[in-house]
Formats: sequence, C-alpha cells, structure tokens
Amino acid sequence: MTSGITKVTTHISPNEQLIFERSQEGRIGYRLPALDVEESPVDDLIPQQFQRDDDLQGMPEVSEVDVVRHFIRMSTWNYSIDIGMYPLGSCTMKYNSRLNERVARIAGFANLHPLADEEDAQGALQVIYELQEYLAEITGLPGVSLQPAAGAHGEMTGIMIIRAFLDARHGAAAAGRRTMLIPDSAHGTNPASAHLSGFSVKTIRSTAEGLTDLDHLRELCAHGDVAGLMLTNPNTLGLFERNIKQVCDIVHEAGGLVYMDGANMNALVGVARPGDMGVDVIHLNLHKTFSTPHGGGGPGCGPCCCTKELEPFLPVPRIVKTDGAFRLDHDQPKSIGRVKAFFGNYGMMLRALAYTLTHGYDGLREATEAAVLNARYIAEGLTSDYDKPFTSPPMHEVVFTDKRQSRKGVHTLDIAKRLIDYGFHPMTIYFPLIVQGAMLIEPTESVGRQELDQFIAAMRSIAREALENPELVLGAPHDTRIGRLDEAAAARKPVLRWKPQVAETEATPASVS
Ligand SMILES: Cc1ncc(COP(=O)(O)O)c(C=O)c1O
Repeated sequence: MTSGITKVTTHISPNEQLIFERSQEGRIGYRLPALDVEESPVDDLIPQQFQRDDDLQGMPEVSEVDVVRHFIRMSTWNYSIDIGMYPLGSCTMKYNSRLNERVARIAGFANLHPLADEEDAQGALQVIYELQEYLAEITGLPGVSLQPAAGAHGEMTGIMIIRAFLDARHGAAAAGRRTMLIPDSAHGTNPASAHLSGFSVKTIRSTAEGLTDLDHLRELCAHGDVAGLMLTNPNTLGLFERNIKQVCDIVHEAGGLVYMDGANMNALVGVARPGDMGVDVIHLNLHKTFSTPHGGGGPGCGPCCCTKELEPFLPVPRIVKTDGAFRLDHDQPKSIGRVKAFFGNYGMMLRALAYTLTHGYDGLREATEAAVLNARYIAEGLTSDYDKPFTSPPMHEVVFTDKRQSRKGVHTLDIAKRLIDYGFHPMTIYFPLIVQGAMLIEPTESVGRQELDQFIAAMRSIAREALENPELVLGAPHDTRIGRLDEAAAARKPVLRWKPQVAETEATPASVS
C-alpha cells in the first residue's frame, strides 16, 4: 500500500509482543545481594492482609535485556521532536536544545530545596529575576510573574488580574463590568479562563479576511458592560491582526482592558512587542516560544506579563532586587495572591533563560523570521493542491482545508492519517473551529529546506492520491503497527490497564479489558 512513497522515518520493529507474552519460566532480571543483616519474619514487616500469596502468578518472567529491548523497541514507535518535523499548528513544536537540558540539570539548581532560605538561594532567585527582565523587554510589558504552570494558567492569572484591577477602580460598580469579548477563532482555553474568573463571554465575529470584525467589536463595546477583550495575535488562523492598535483603542475607550493570548509569540519575538501595540496583559508559553519541552521534561510555564498599572495585582511573592541582593516580597496588598506552589516550574525557567541568552537579540529575531519564512514556504508550496481560505500571507502557521479533496470523499482526518505513512506527524486538524476541515500547519524555525520540501512533496502526493485513488487515503495509515482506531470509542471507553488472566493453562496470553 505504501510502495513508491519516500518515507522520512520507519519503525524498526512493527510487531512487538506484550511483555507478558515474552515471559519464559525462570528468567530473572535482577538478583538481590545476599542478606547481610539479621532476617526478620515477613509478618513483622508487612501486615498479613497486605501480603500476596500467589507467588506473583501472571507476572512476566524476563531478563534485563528482554526488558530493555522490549521498551526500546516500543519507544521507536513514538514520534518525537527529536525524530523529525512536528507540524502541529498552534503548538509550536520546536526543537528543545540539549544545552538547555544541561543547564537545567546543573546540580546547584536541580537539587536546591524550594524552601531554602533567601540567602542560600540567591543564584536561583537571580535566574527568575533576569528571565522576568528579558520577558519584560521582549513583550514591552514591565510586570512579570513566572508562577503560572501552563498557557491556560497564565491566561487565567491575567484575567484574574483584570478583574482585581476593575474591582479596585470601580468598587461595587465593577459588578456591572463582567463581559469578556473573545473572537470566534480563539483557542478554547480563552472562554474557559474568562468563565472560571467570573466573566460571561460574548463572541466577536471574524471577517471574511480572517481578522477581528471591528464593527462587531464596536457594537459589543457600546453595551457598557465590557471588562476586556482576549485576543490572540497572530490569531489562530496564523494571521497578524493588523488593526491591533485600533482594536486596543476601541476596548480602552469602552473602559475595558486588552488581554493578548501570547501562545503565538513565536511570530513576534524580537520583531514586535505587544506592549507597544496597546496590550495590557499577556501570557507566554515558554513550552512553545522559548523551546522548553511540552511533555517529558515538562510540565510547562505560562508567564503573565502586564503594564506598570497592573503590576501591583500580580501574584505574590514578587522577586525584588535591593542593594544587589534578591528577596521575596509578600507585602503586595493588591495582589491576586499565589497561583502556584513555591515559584512555578523552575526547570522551565532555566531552560528558557538559556534559550534567550544563547540566542541573544539577533538570534531571537532570526528565529522568528525563520519560523515565519518556513510557514510561508509551505503556504506557497501547497497552494496549488489545497484550498487556502485566507489570502493574506501567513505568519508562523498556515491554514488549509480539505475543500478540494472532500469532493472525492477524502477529508482532513484521512489526509492527516495518510501523512503518518509518509513518516510525518500530522498537522493540527479541525482547529480553528471556524474553518471547515481545517489543517493548521506550523513548521517552526527548527526545520531546514530539505525537510520542508519533503513535507510539501508528501502533502502534494496525498492530494494526488485523493484524486486518483481515494480508497488508499481513506484506509490510512497502512504502515503502522495498528491501523485507524475508532477514536470516539478510544476516548469514551479507554482501556488503560492490562489485567492478568489467572491462568488455568499457563501459556495463554492474557486478555485486555
Ligand atoms: C492559542 C493558544 N492559547 C492558549 C493555549 C493554552 O496553552 P497550554 O496548553 O499551555 O495551557 C494554547 C495551547 O495550545 C494555544 O494554542
């Protein structure tokens, strides 16, 4: 089914038995050293009801090499950022540099206790302080907190700050300002953050061009109950909201504040600053723009950056520098309080600082330019074969649809599955929701020309297959250990645990339930 295609990766062993099926009686993985203390009866150590009496029946009997090879073989089925291009739009799956990982493992940082005294943690506090300073410079927003643990957490922190600010400004009358405006293209976490922070949400339409509809914005602002606007820029269609200054003016004139979802900052760093555009508060995703891991080495960090006016409302403790020393300041009466234990995910801050310092200003700007250039290269390369609903040049990501392929019954999901046969991780599909059959592609700056060309060639080949042999695409993936799953059933009735069969006849492999 896949002959003739150029794969960029292959699985070395597509058929791996369960570890239980590899079991051979008498195989041993580890021998305990001889007892060199006085033996105690088991009953003295473990209460009887917690002891098992089945001699570990059903557990696999395997050697160390059996175990290592089993798991290493399975690890080759995982697609990872270290294997190749990961074009998940909106996720900014860029390479996580090994240098940043080394920095995060420096013993003095990695082993520092979070309750260490300020005097003993000066270096660690300096790292947080300096990263805050750099992020303030990059965003043009001087108040920074690194506490939030993810993008959505940073959003919620920012929206809580807006609420606290409005409460301080209007007193009881702030209860009449509880509407948050959010464009219809927004990421789902935006309305969720607004709702959790006590706001009701009104949706702003996008224009046919894919930008915020200014007339609709004015109309909604005229109601007098607007607390603010949550806007992603570039928006989730990959387009720069070129009216951003006007958007901010309209919201400010209506007495609201502007929150920018900064998850797409990879298109702006070193080139344009949200603070200069009129934005009041923003979150960043260090696990996107600043190359810290999304998984594995995660969890993430979603710093919240704001104007001087909003700074007193940031979470405590703040890290301040006086007479060359760093200290924790808890005395911030207007603060929304703490949003995360200790200082947030410190390992992410070390990696992000290493990323920032190793790039420097020129390097950060170059990374941004390369990310945008790569997305535009793909946009150009695929326009002949796929419907591109918006004509403006994209920023760091580009959206296509399945409009042409769907005439042959081939839809976005099928194209994404077929891409796996070509050795690529699929793009983001069916997001943003306002684009029917959306395929959102974000290459990032971490891919070179050769890989971009391979990706374009794969996508164009799939477009041809959709026309000439749609069944091939509809049945994909063909080249993986497991074919297409019933994703709804997998989500609704997940099978998360293997249960050993209490074997009457020993050899039968256990069932899965
Ligand atoms: C535009 C946008 N906003 C917010 C988020 C939320 O970030 P996180 O997943 O870190 O909570 C994402 C995540 O993909 C996003 O793409």
